[in-house]
Amino acid sequence: MKRLPLYLFTIMDDLKAKAKAKGIDVIDLGMGNPDLPSPPHVVEELCRSVRRAENHRYSRPTGDVEEGLKKAIAAWYEERFGVVLNPKTEVLPLIGSKEGIAHLALAFLNNDDMGLVPTPSYPPHANSVIMAGGILYNIPIGPENNFRPDFRALGKEVARMGKIFFVSYPHNPTAACVDLDFYRELVDWAKGKEMILCSDLAYSDIVFDGYKAPSLLNVKGAKEANGIEFHTASKSYNMAGWRIGWAVGNAQILRSLEKTKSYIDFGIFRAVQEAAITALTGPQDFVKNLVETYRKRRDLWVQGMAAIGWKVPLPKATFYIWARIPPKFSGLSSLEFAQLLVDEAGVVVAPGSGFGEYGEGFVRFALVEPEERLKTALERIRKVLAISS
Ligand SMILES: Cc1ncc(COP(=O)(O)O)c(C=O)c1O
Repeated sequence: MKRLPLYLFTIMDDLKAKAKAKGIDVIDLGMGNPDLPSPPHVVEELCRSVRRAENHRYSRPTGDVEEGLKKAIAAWYEERFGVVLNPKTEVLPLIGSKEGIAHLALAFLNNDDMGLVPTPSYPPHANSVIMAGGILYNIPIGPENNFRPDFRALGKEVARMGKIFFVSYPHNPTAACVDLDFYRELVDWAKGKEMILCSDLAYSDIVFDGYKAPSLLNVKGAKEANGIEFHTASKSYNMAGWRIGWAVGNAQILRSLEKTKSYIDFGIFRAVQEAAITALTGPQDFVKNLVETYRKRRDLWVQGMAAIGWKVPLPKATFYIWARIPPKFSGLSSLEFAQLLVDEAGVVVAPGSGFGEYGEGFVRFALVEPEERLKTALERIRKVLAISS
């Protein structure tokens, strides 16, 4: 526990609580916590399912609902990515993908095994390695390499000790994207190594301007190269609080992950599973509308930032904006700058250092407030930027 850094969301909750206590009207762009409701037809299905008494019992992997969910996930994957999965062996539902990520490291890392994490990263990728008692190996990524890890440059020893290699595109926190060639090269490099290629594809639906996010499993041979992929209902269907995600891919790896979980949890509340089946198999126009909402917010934010003299690139995916701290404030750490924005503007942002040491010098805005609130936030940030000039 001592090796774990202070958790990012704990830092942000603390900043927020302090500002609220001072009576500040806080605009929270800190955590990537979708602000809009889940699809109404999914909520209705939950209400119906929750009344069925058989759903109040423990969930068992071979139950009818459980098998139905696996089939629904496999069908969704085929529909979204053209990836064909065996629902019985190549799909594992999770209590949110974060749960699966943490337990993957626990299942596979011994004390002398490395978890390779391109950073800045979604904190659980790195923290899961530490919690499992493994060795965390950070691979710096930044604008100079399009936020892609240079795996070919890794030393032989690292390649030998590396047991899990995390990739996650569209990327949190930087919003960077990759094309299929990136995964092709990665799979090619990983072949023959005793390393799990672990892709976290949480944001594949939140894409703009015609960009289509590929799956690692689109690469022929990815499963055989120990490839697995995490996904979630949290972002595509605004179901973050429901706790439902899944891992797909290499059957042997999923079996070990399932075994580890079987000692720890009893699966997902069956009513939530039934509702998730509805989300995955029902009409998908909800997702299209959601993406359009995020696109408008993105355009408003990027244009608004440019108008106040803080230029950021236009992201092709996610609802995040990764912004270098303006030169005038470069003497501040990202945490200090985030603190300044809360104190002076009442705007909560995520400090880049919360995503690993290579996130220092940046902050992340999560566009999880309505447009009107975003406009207010921009106006308040404009004043902060102007104060010290
Ligand atoms: C990259 C990434 N993976 C996974 C998650 C968590 O997903 P879940 O709600 O399924 O645990 C998040 C949430 O922010 C994320 O950014």
